[in-house]
Amino acid sequence: MIFASCAGIVLIGLATWTHGATSPQTTPQTGALDATTSLPPQAVVVDPRSFAVLGIDGPFRESSITQLFNPTNTTPPFFQVFHPDFLKILGPTGTIRAVAANPTFAFAHEAPIWVPQTDEVFFASNDGGALGMSDIDHNNQVSKISLKEVAAAIKTASRGTAPVNVSVTKLDLPEAIQMTNGGTGPYFGNLLLVNSGRGQLPPSVALVNPNPPHNTTVLLDNFFGRQFNSLNDIKIRPGTNRLFFTDVPYAHLASISMGATLNAMVYRLDPNTKVVRVVADGFDRCNGIAFSSDGKTAFVSDTGANGGFLGNNQTEPATIYAFDVDPKTEAFTNRRVFAYVDTGIADGLQLDANDNLYAGCGDGVQVWNPEGILLGKFFLGTTSANLVFAGNKRLVIMAETAIYFAEIAAKANKLSFP
Ligand SMILES: *[C@@H]1O[C@H](CO)[C@@H](O)[C@H](O)[C@H]1NC(C)=O
Ligand SMILES: *[C@@H]1O[C@H](CO)[C@@H](O)[C@H](O)[C@H]1NC(C)=O
Ligand SMILES: *[C@@H]1O[C@H](CO)[C@@H](O)[C@H](O)[C@H]1NC(C)=O
Repeated sequence: MIFASCAGIVLIGLATWTHGATSPQTTPQTGALDATTSLPPQAVVVDPRSFAVLGIDGPFRESSITQLFNPTNTTPPFFQVFHPDFLKILGPTGTIRAVAANPTFAFAHEAPIWVPQTDEVFFASNDGGALGMSDIDHNNQVSKISLKEVAAAIKTASRGTAPVNVSVTKLDLPEAIQMTNGGTGPYFGNLLLVNSGRGQLPPSVALVNPNPPHNTTVLLDNFFGRQFNSLNDIKIRPGTNRLFFTDVPYAHLASISMGATLNAMVYRLDPNTKVVRVVADGFDRCNGIAFSSDGKTAFVSDTGANGGFLGNNQTEPATIYAFDVDPKTEAFTNRRVFAYVDTGIADGLQLDANDNLYAGCGDGVQVWNPEGILLGKFFLGTTSANLVFAGNKRLVIMAETAIYFAEIAAKANKLSFP
């Protein structure tokens, strides 16, 4: 399969980069991309048939962490299209660009939350990691950007998808909010945050008023008197409005807590009765969490391959698991592999309205259909820990020292409650 070349379409064929490949496929599969398919200007087709055989002395990657999969050597950010259905997500005119950047500070790590009332996105800086400017003596930072400001900046941008740089506003939060690492909502209009804790200051689940004075209500900070390790990510389950969060010793592995305290597990909190129970275990390091739009399927990433100060080990999990959510107990059952990522780890998870799954990975955001087939990537050439839909057709991607903004065709699923 060779893609013809025309304006705005970057195409690769078997001959361009594979070694020792057998004769090219000429019969398109049903729905396959062909020369007449029109692509958004930043899209690059990478047909799986073009790299299925790399051959003797082929360009094999030795590291999933330091070597990215970019066979066309395209300059990021751009879209890698592995499956024609990714074009339905991008739409004919999808774009991606950086909208805020600070090369010396990982201000945009995790906990992205879109607040529709003000059209702002809130997020947290890296808690204890590279360029995080936070450690056992210094809290991390929750900030926000305005998507109205983003829209205005894009309108006056000099050309195409050139980066813009909107202002980042830091929130002044109460002391109870320590090392925020996850967030979702809004929940009854509030940011719903999970915090890693720091030193003697406990990890917690908390509500924060997105508007000044940013007053805070801590919902939970212990499991029957025992501190959590460090709470990592949280979602509201559609249907029951209960809160599900992951706990993993990353604070210990970033030297911001005293030590590991509990098995790495997923918990359910009923915010009214404050009843807490464990719903899943058996992880190396559980991390991101998300639900299908009907609430019947749960997804949890295991980032065992990332060991914090222990280093990376690419033979450990970099895996997204799917579960059935028991309709009565809400325990996670029938665990199965949903996807294993080729680069880095799958960190934060989000779904769109069609239940395609998006994960922050070592090279940007990767997207799978509900069958676990990789459709494509928002390829940044750098790590993304999480992302969030800001309503339909707008995706906001955390990339540590930058925030990327994609205008696409996909619709958002509902994260807020009520
Ligand atoms: C964007 O602006 C911030 C100040 O608001 C500045 O610190 C940063 O360096 C700028 N980024 C770029 C890429 O110019
Ligand atoms: C913030 O304070 C207002 C006014 O007292 C209260 O109604 C609201 O519930 C508080 N929000 C949080 C998250 O504590
Ligand atoms: C990586 O993990 C595997 C499996 O647990 C282990 O056998 C191996 O020793 C680890 N490698 C390093 C370099 O730690």
